[in-house]
Amino acid sequence: VTVGERIRVVAGAGSADYDVVIGEGLLARVGEFAAAAAPKARAAAVISDSNVAPLYGPQVVAAMEGALGRASLHDFPAGEANKNRERWIALTDALLEEGLGRDTIVVALGGGVTGDLAGFVAATFLRGVPVVQVPTSLVAMIDASVGGKTGVDAPAGKNLVGAFHPPVVVLADPACLATLPRSERSQGLAEAVKHGAILDAEYMAELRERAEDLLSGEPYASRWAVRRSVELKAGVVSRDERESGLREILNFGHTLGHAIEAESRFEIPHGSAVAVGMVLEARIGEAMGVTASGTADRLAEALRAMELPTELPSGMDPDRVLGWTGADKKARGGEVRYVQIAAVGSVHRDRNWARPVAPDLVREVLATGSALS
Ligand SMILES: NC(=O)c1ccc[n+]([C@@H]2O[C@H](COP(=O)([O-])OP(=O)(O)OC[C@H]3O[C@@H](n4cnc5c(N)ncnc54)[C@H](O)[C@@H]3O)[C@@H](O)[C@H]2O)c1
Ligand SMILES: [Zn+2]
Repeated sequence: VTVGERIRVVAGAGSADYDVVIGEGLLARVGEFAAAAAPKARAAAVISDSNVAPLYGPQVVAAMEGALGRASLHDFPAGEANKNRERWIALTDALLEEGLGRDTIVVALGGGVTGDLAGFVAATFLRGVPVVQVPTSLVAMIDASVGGKTGVDAPAGKNLVGAFHPPVVVLADPACLATLPRSERSQGLAEAVKHGAILDAEYMAELRERAEDLLSGEPYASRWAVRRSVELKAGVVSRDERESGLREILNFGHTLGHAIEAESRFEIPHGSAVAVGMVLEARIGEAMGVTASGTADRLAEALRAMELPTELPSGMDPDRVLGWTGADKKARGGEVRYVQIAAVGSVHRDRNWARPVAPDLVREVLATGSALS
């Protein structure tokens, strides 16, 4: 067993800091790490979805049972459609019926849907018990398991009901990525490219070079990308504690990305929508003279290497996409804000990390792919 890396995350306000541990073979050692991070825990509730539970559930339950003496597996049907309050009720009731108490630790074993849902169960169960995040998808490893956001979707929109509940430890075993479908790896790589685009040009260039290994889930390349992305995201969420607002840079590509997702009725997955969003937002920046010219094309090349789209789907109405940006929850006081990069690897900052953009310019870029053509 190689436990490769440990990255510290400063959780902030009233929460303890935690480690993200990355290494092959970690699943077998979940019990020992969980027990060390939550010394008062005497029972474990492992929550996992219907795809991941059969693959890794028994091993993780056995590891938790070995460490704490008591562990059970609770699964729910896979898919974003199940990240809702009904599943939160069902899982919470199952834990209560089992007679679990305040000495319980929740283990969130799965992708981002499981992490958000199980994290919210942990945040609210008996007013809050510790959670260990064991991410098994690339999205969960490099994005969802770090930062402490948990929650469920509501009919009015995604992630609208939730809590800030940082894990006591995050255990990422890149070996799990071998069973993840290639298209799901590609989705996660969109956020990795984003990390490079906002913070580290060299990282983005290397991601592009190693695209095939990353898409095929090759363990060394996967571990490398998970480590670098977690370092970058952890750096942002940790610093945000002192320098409030920095977290906003993680929304690069997401103002248009969320709008494209919504306009497609969520047929276009999040990573793909954000890939298009990043390219278009960079084109807007180039048209405004804020982003170095050629940046959007460089981004598009990296994203294409990850088998992600880089243009608005033909037939998607620019005005409707623009309309959805107004519904974006990041709109403050009616203003739709855009994070803009100065070049690959650095965010443009004036007084703020994000700023409003003239709707006409956004419409023009959406309609033509470039405001300059
Ligand atoms: N809390 C946050 O900060 C944060 C950040 C980003 C995303 N999210 C949330 O994460 C969710 C998306 O995450 P996701 O893409 O991981 O979705 P997901 O959890 O639905 O996982 C994607 C698919 O892969 C399957 N899967 C996961 N790991 C597997 C493995 N090792 N082998 C085989 N199949 C596996 C799942 O069952 C699912 O079918 C969204 O709900 C999003 O809102 C949250
Ligand atoms: Zn995202």
